[in-house]
Amino acid sequence: MTILVPGGAGYIGSHTVNYLIKNGYDVAVVDNLATGYSKSVNPKARLYEGDIRDKEFMSEIFDKESIDAVIHFAGSSIVPESMNNPIKYFDNNVYGMITLLEMMEKYHVKNLVFSSSAAVYGEPKQVPIKESDITNPTNPYGESKLIIERIMKWADKAYGINSVALRYFNVGGASVDGSIGENHNPETHLIPIVLQVAEGKRDKLQIYGTNYDTNDGTNIRDYVHVVDLADAHVLAMQYLLNGGKSDVFNLGSSHGFSNMEILDAARKVTNKGIPAEFAARRPGDPATLIADSTKARTVLNWQPKYENVEKIIQSAWNFVEKHPNGLSK
Ligand code: UFG
Repeated sequence: MTILVPGGAGYIGSHTVNYLIKNGYDVAVVDNLATGYSKSVNPKARLYEGDIRDKEFMSEIFDKESIDAVIHFAGSSIVPESMNNPIKYFDNNVYGMITLLEMMEKYHVKNLVFSSSAAVYGEPKQVPIKESDITNPTNPYGESKLIIERIMKWADKAYGINSVALRYFNVGGASVDGSIGENHNPETHLIPIVLQVAEGKRDKLQIYGTNYDTNDGTNIRDYVHVVDLADAHVLAMQYLLNGGKSDVFNLGSSHGFSNMEILDAARKVTNKGIPAEFAARRPGDPATLIADSTKARTVLNWQPKYENVEKIIQSAWNFVEKHPNGLSK
């Protein structure tokens, strides 16, 4: 059975490709390598280098491969960048999905798993957040994911393309052997930045906002390990292949950790001081994001193995120590 993975050279995509191969699937990856790394793609997968918005290129792949399902990660994912350049996000993410759906319709591929985000909710009215809660994105990145989810709904009705949107909360960690992990440039996410300070690559961590309505005044987030996330994608795909209906699932640990707690945990794991200072709030940051992931656990039978935030940081640190100069293209 062949699975097409657009964005399979990226952080979450490359972990999912490994997981698919470990579970006996045949995998074709499409990636323009704008942010992904060809060396992160499992050598047992076929890598097609190019852009999902390029219809000619995509037609060639769909002609050549006999695709049973698509797990789609390709897109831009930096929230602050999306605030400054929204068009890039609607072009790359929304138009990218439109092209992919056109191909799926034309070649009769009926199963799609999509990498969505907690960013579709915006500032939640209550936590933990349920899939049925109001969606009201506060940035173009989240808006692009929500638009795509809506397009997927209509593609199901019109063309019978069954799809699952997985709304991730905060992803962290790396592969168990430390061969692949999170390596964005520029980096904007908390755990890799904290670890860059531990490595001495940055002088200090800036903690954005200390007067939120939380226990210690800093933002609270729900962290999920990238290996558990990879597992969820394969479960979602199997759910569709077994006749499951289109649906949306939150993926999180359902536990919240404040930014201060992450810093403390990182100090413990790395045994380094990690200098930090308080800074102004970052625009668009909701105070608290915690997932209610009951639905993924019951319907998909998802059982995350790395719910402990120290394990997530330990695995990210293991990756960082193995790659002092980051991943090479
Ligand atoms: N933070 C700092 N200092 C930093 C970097 C981050 O204090 O140098 C704080 C942020 O303000 C936030 C927390 O750390 O409070 C987590 O920030 P990240 O950038 O790591 O992650 P976000 O919660 O902003 O983003 C995550 C996903 C996005 C998704 C979003 C949903 O990475 O893809 O959740 O709101 F859109």
